[in-house]
Amino acid sequence: MQKLQLLQNQFNPTSDDIFFHIVQAPPDPIFGIANAYKADTSNTKIDLGVGAYRTDEEKPYVFEIIKKLEREVVNDPTLNKEYLPIEGLADFNKGCQKLMFGQNSPLIASGQIVTAQCLGGTGALRVGFEFVKRHIPGDVYVSKPTWSNHNQVIERAGLNQFEYPYFDPKTKGFNCAGTIECLSQARMGSIVLLHVCAHNPTGVDPTEAEWLQIADVCKKRRLVPFFDCAYQGFASGCIEKDVFAVRKFAELGFQMIVAQSFSKNMGLYNERVGAVHIVTSNKDISARVLSNLKIVIRTICSNPPAIGARIAAKILTDEKNFNAWVEELKTVTGRIIKMRTLLKQELDNLKVPGNWDHITRQTGFFTFTGLTPEQCDLLTKQYHVYLLRSGRMSMAGITSKNVRYLAESIKAVVQKK
Ligand SMILES: Cc1ncc(COP(=O)(O)O)c(C=O)c1O
Repeated sequence: MQKLQLLQNQFNPTSDDIFFHIVQAPPDPIFGIANAYKADTSNTKIDLGVGAYRTDEEKPYVFEIIKKLEREVVNDPTLNKEYLPIEGLADFNKGCQKLMFGQNSPLIASGQIVTAQCLGGTGALRVGFEFVKRHIPGDVYVSKPTWSNHNQVIERAGLNQFEYPYFDPKTKGFNCAGTIECLSQARMGSIVLLHVCAHNPTGVDPTEAEWLQIADVCKKRRLVPFFDCAYQGFASGCIEKDVFAVRKFAELGFQMIVAQSFSKNMGLYNERVGAVHIVTSNKDISARVLSNLKIVIRTICSNPPAIGARIAAKILTDEKNFNAWVEELKTVTGRIIKMRTLLKQELDNLKVPGNWDHITRQTGFFTFTGLTPEQCDLLTKQYHVYLLRSGRMSMAGITSKNVRYLAESIKAVVQKK
């Protein structure tokens, strides 16, 4: 697979210019697109790059319940700015466990889950892989394709990575046989990074039966599941259903790692709210794991920030707030689902060559359109439609007003010889 390490010239300690040897790094593919979109002055431009929710007016959205609870946190005279514990806010961590593993999970009761608050999902991945590197340093298997930052985070943690063939370009669906075949040859003790739901970038998830096959091969090869959950609520619209894989693996007795993010499902992007969970076989081992996890966190960021976690904790530990959040999340995910249907309808109405059924078959934030890098380039340069060159489209950037123009633009690039 592609090596992510940048070629560097040698550092020359006798040179007067200490940093001269450093070569220009490429811009981040996702943030790079956001910048190009901002700089574009066209009034027909569409941002389908970034995975952040937009309203039908193309505006960023702050959940009403978050606004309310943020005011409560800021005005609470009992709170101060003292450091949080290294592993973060206790109430938040407990709430995260319940949301991920279920209100009545026996693993919570038996102290088998070690949880630490992290800087969003990325922070949880970074802390998790740093822990892996130090304590269970196997090869890491990642889906092909995956979120580009996965590869970088794993590489920076100093772990070897291999790809399992997740996406089948022919069916535009999950390549279950290929994945099982690949994992059945993985070295024992390898780590398998699995997207819990709403796979990024493909929008393709295994069915419940397919998850069981993945669990089976993980058991047989003694592979360690490392789940990444960045879109709970966005696949089926139901927060319980969306974490089926994690709860099933827990039920099957897996010891595993889970990274959890609230950036998307609470819209807390810049507050950096997330958690890492490590499921062990018993309470004593949990205590030892936690003591080591704390050293990992202490050396990366010392301890996490408080405001976002305090807000999230108010949602996760209070039934009324929780229900209000779930309702609002349904509205948000509902708009995205509606945009899938609308885009497919427009493409069909315009008789755009090809089959576009996968747009409504795929789930979550993204559609893996099947457009080629050249067609994506043309969409951007000529039609001011910004998306990843892999053909990944963020459905949140589509609105009832721009969907027709988008479909016409897609038609134009698909028909271009
Ligand atoms: C698959 C996946 N994992 C993790 C993350 C991390 O999210 P954050 O660090 O913003 O919480 C993202 C964000 O786009 C993602 O798509």
